[in-house]
Amino acid sequence: MTDATDIRIRPAMRDDVPAIVRIYNEGIRGRGATFETRERTDDDVRVWFDDPRFPILVAEEGGETVGWAAASAYRARACYAGIAEYSIYVATSHHGRGVGRLLMPAFLDALEGAGFWKVLSRLFPENGPSRALCRRFGFREVGTYRRHAQLDGVWRDVIIVERLLRAAARTP
Ligand SMILES: CC(C)(COP(=O)(O)OP(=O)(O)OC[C@H]1O[C@@H](n2cnc3c(N)ncnc32)[C@H](O)[C@@H]1OP(=O)(O)O)[C@@H](O)C(=O)NCCC(=O)NCCS
Repeated sequence: MTDATDIRIRPAMRDDVPAIVRIYNEGIRGRGATFETRERTDDDVRVWFDDPRFPILVAEEGGETVGWAAASAYRARACYAGIAEYSIYVATSHHGRGVGRLLMPAFLDALEGAGFWKVLSRLFPENGPSRALCRRFGFREVGTYRRHAQLDGVWRDVIIVERLLRAAARTP
């Protein structure tokens, strides 16, 4: 087993789509990360690349894509244009080896470079690794949406997390 020092973070390319899909679908099947239950196709993910405003990064180890982080729109209203939602998924085989710890700071840099002032997401309270990753990189747990939706017929809470970027992070 290698450790995270062998891992390179870079912008995703369209050639990464099958790996991104594979890793995402592992996460969907795992039921620990998202309310999504519909597994994604290559076509679903290919459209992410159509809007260059939103960074997509991958972690690569020995030529294999082993994780990704991607931003998407928070809301359509113009006043929220500087807010991004994020997703981050690491291949199950690579969990707990520091891939997320490498991806996240590079992703935050990419978001700042793209002009976003805030990034946010919603996490299941039980998602310890994801909450730890957020804590490490300066996210704030804003609060809990109770019974936000059902997953497999069971109500689930979610914790809202946010991280300020650029000027928003510096202004008192
Ligand atoms: C969340 C996820 C991206 C973290 O990536 P990772 O490469 O596995 O995590 P890392 O090894 O970089 O560790 C990140 C932090 O989680 C902690 N962690 C890792 N595995 C853990 C576990 N099983 N239980 C509790 N904490 C854990 C690490 O100790 C580290 O915290 P620290 O910096 O305070 O020590 C990854 O586990 C994943 O893909 N999970 C499924 C998808 C998901 O939940 N995505 C988030 C919602 S979009």
